Amino acid sequence: MSPLSSSPADHPHTADLVVFGGTGDLAMRKLIPALYHSDRDGRLSPESRVIAMSRGGLTDADFRGKVDAEVRDQVPADDQAGWQRFLGRLHHVSVDVGRDVAGRNTGGGTDGGTGGTDRRGWGALARLLAGHEQRDRVFYLASPPRTFGPFCRELDEAGLVTPRSRVVLEKPLGHDLTSAQRINDEVGAIFDERQIFRIDHYLGKETVQNLLVLRFANAFLEPIWNSLWIDHVQITAAETVGTPGRRGYYDHAGALRDMVQNHLLQLLTLTAMEPPARSDREAVRDEKVKVLQALRPITGTEVERFTVRGQYVGADGMPGYLDEPASTPPTEASRRVETFTAIRAEVKNWRWAGVPFYLRTGKRMPYRRSEIVVQFKDVPHSIYPGGAPNRLVLRLQPEEGIRLDIMAKIPGAGEVTLKPVPLSLSFGETFSARVPEAYERLLTDVLAGNPTLFMRRDEVEAAWRWIDPILHAWESQAELPEPYPAGTTGPAGAHELLGRSGRAWHEEGA
Ligand code: BG6
Repeated sequence: MSPLSSSPADHPHTADLVVFGGTGDLAMRKLIPALYHSDRDGRLSPESRVIAMSRGGLTDADFRGKVDAEVRDQVPADDQAGWQRFLGRLHHVSVDVGRDVAGRNTGGGTDGGTGGTDRRGWGALARLLAGHEQRDRVFYLASPPRTFGPFCRELDEAGLVTPRSRVVLEKPLGHDLTSAQRINDEVGAIFDERQIFRIDHYLGKETVQNLLVLRFANAFLEPIWNSLWIDHVQITAAETVGTPGRRGYYDHAGALRDMVQNHLLQLLTLTAMEPPARSDREAVRDEKVKVLQALRPITGTEVERFTVRGQYVGADGMPGYLDEPASTPPTEASRRVETFTAIRAEVKNWRWAGVPFYLRTGKRMPYRRSEIVVQFKDVPHSIYPGGAPNRLVLRLQPEEGIRLDIMAKIPGAGEVTLKPVPLSLSFGETFSARVPEAYERLLTDVLAGNPTLFMRRDEVEAAWRWIDPILHAWESQAELPEPYPAGTTGPAGAHELLGRSGRAWHEEGA
């Protein structure tokens, strides 16, 4: 079987899925709906349970009521019975997250005795799991990264980590290389690397998997997938949303940590990686990590030349970053944080020498669009005026699809006039099947124990190793990020980044 599939033969094993942060935004918006759809498609065994951990003090009935109220509108009218069955799988355990994490992070001693553990909720979890040691056990940490190490230790001390256990870590995995290494050490002290699933939800997106199929299951592309034929690659993740209510997190994250270190670099690795020679489950990750290690470091004065950072300011009735609703007023960190970044990266290996990879992401841009654009070189000698080089566009969202722009002649008897026209594949139109949410795919893989679409320790750390010097250089710069009006395609610097080599960002209709 391909490392990229988790077939029904792999599962459904009966599993207990314990979600820390189980009543939070991610759980309610993404995880619970994804689990419901997995259940509906027969990918959860009848006895499997979902146990939400939070400080909420909820009973099982309260939690089921909350899920019913918040998620029910995603349930098809003809599946009310299935929805009730799914609600029956849900449990809630209250855990004193705040005290635990505060105590552990400051190096405070453990208060491990049974009474203390029980008081803080771990005993209740242990009782719920007792007698089910033969099940797969998935601990999903949808909680801040500082909790990862402490939670893993608590689970271990409460005797809850079985050989069939796995742990899922949500991003961000640290805020720089050192903190990522510390988290990896702490989690690695309890779980083997094969049990650790570091999630990047972009890897669960349908087009991302299709990129690999396009490259490695079709013969025509691979011979031209290199610097001889490709001029440059653009990877864009543009969002129309701002950051209302997220300042506490975003002030200390910024676009580079929030989107580039993980999502955009993952897209870059899949675009640039060599074809895996083996079909085992590590083969894809082995090739991806080589790409990250081949990224040319951007350091010192190059940071100014090859990176751009921007922050949106109010325009057209939309607030600026500093005016977004937040529970606290803006600080110096708010003024300095980037909500947009563009970077010119290079992969220093035989295949990609001299091919720039332009990365761009931003909040409050005029459109929501994530795509990879592979811009081919022009024909070596043209006999027609007005030609344009071919372009392959892999659209991740919205409207997942693949488009190849080729040159064609506009019909007519007179002069030959060329026009770029698309050969288009829309997944929605071609396949009538529902396109699953990224989390659905990834949760299926976790339950099947398939790590291919998750980041390995060396991958995460290689990505931070490349990001860190950019972060440090930005931190030492006196200038603030370049302002750009909300609803526009980013600051002028982003256009200059490509413009100085005669290139331009791909905009729809351009
Ligand atoms: C998350 C970021 O990882 O990805 C968010 O923290 C961002 O800031 C989101 O909005 C984008 O995901 P998607 O799937 O909507 O492109």
